[in-house]
Amino acid sequence: MSVKVAALIPAAGSGQRLGQGPKAFVEVGGRTLLERAVTNFTQHVDEIVVAVPSELHREAKHLLPDDVIIITGGATRQETVYQLLQACTAEVVLVHDAARPFLAADVIERMKVAVLEHHAASVVTSVADSLIEAATGQTHDRSKLRAVQTPQGFRRDLILRAHDAANASGAHVTDDASLVRALGEPVALVEGSSWLLKVTDPSQLELARALAPHWDAQHNRATLTPYLKPSSML
Ligand code: CTP
Ligand code: MG
Repeated sequence: MSVKVAALIPAAGSGQRLGQGPKAFVEVGGRTLLERAVTNFTQHVDEIVVAVPSELHREAKHLLPDDVIIITGGATRQETVYQLLQACTAEVVLVHDAARPFLAADVIERMKVAVLEHHAASVVTSVADSLIEAATGQTHDRSKLRAVQTPQGFRRDLILRAHDAANASGAHVTDDASLVRALGEPVALVEGSSWLLKVTDPSQLELARALAPHWDAQHNRATLTPYLKPSSML
């Protein structure tokens, strides 16, 4: 593909709900969520930019390959993504939460195709549980609903325009694609899966840690080699 693609990884959150410090630096299966997020993209994009809390810059530099650009994130995810957008030059950006460690190569490739064709795309997944409103018990037809996951991908000029409009109007979201929809522009939907679970609270961390060995055996053989201790190679 001749169009330059960047992976933008917001990893500057404080991980309040997990309660173990900044979440991107928590380990799952022997590697931090941040390392996993970067590793998943290395073969698939031209540039990787991550945003971390300012006090963890040095730690991130130590963990990540030299060619990954590291910046300081903002007070909200939206601010962090805006800063990531300023820090890259690629025409197409894929925004992916560090909190989702199990991102398959085929999802990245499908997203690139969708963004080139439609200018904006989001990974979503169908909802298996019945859905009710907590306050009223009112049900919603789950067949019409989708849970929004990441990556979300955009032409960089479009998502910058969407963020500028949101900043001007004071809109605050956790989902960048909704800012594009607010401009009246469509967003293509790419099917994700339960593997794209977001590590948010301790139960999801427990699940992620249980799943990591299986995931690594299926997806990350090559990248596991550097983590073998010398003694285990004798
Ligand atoms: N994020 C970010 N900058 C912020 C807030 C969040 O880069 N100011 C990132 C997180 O690091 C994470 C992703 O956005 O990769 C999704 O956010 P979330 O799951 O809410 O993570 P936290 O904000 O860290 O968690 P919590 O809301 O429980 O504090
Ligand atoms: Mg948060």
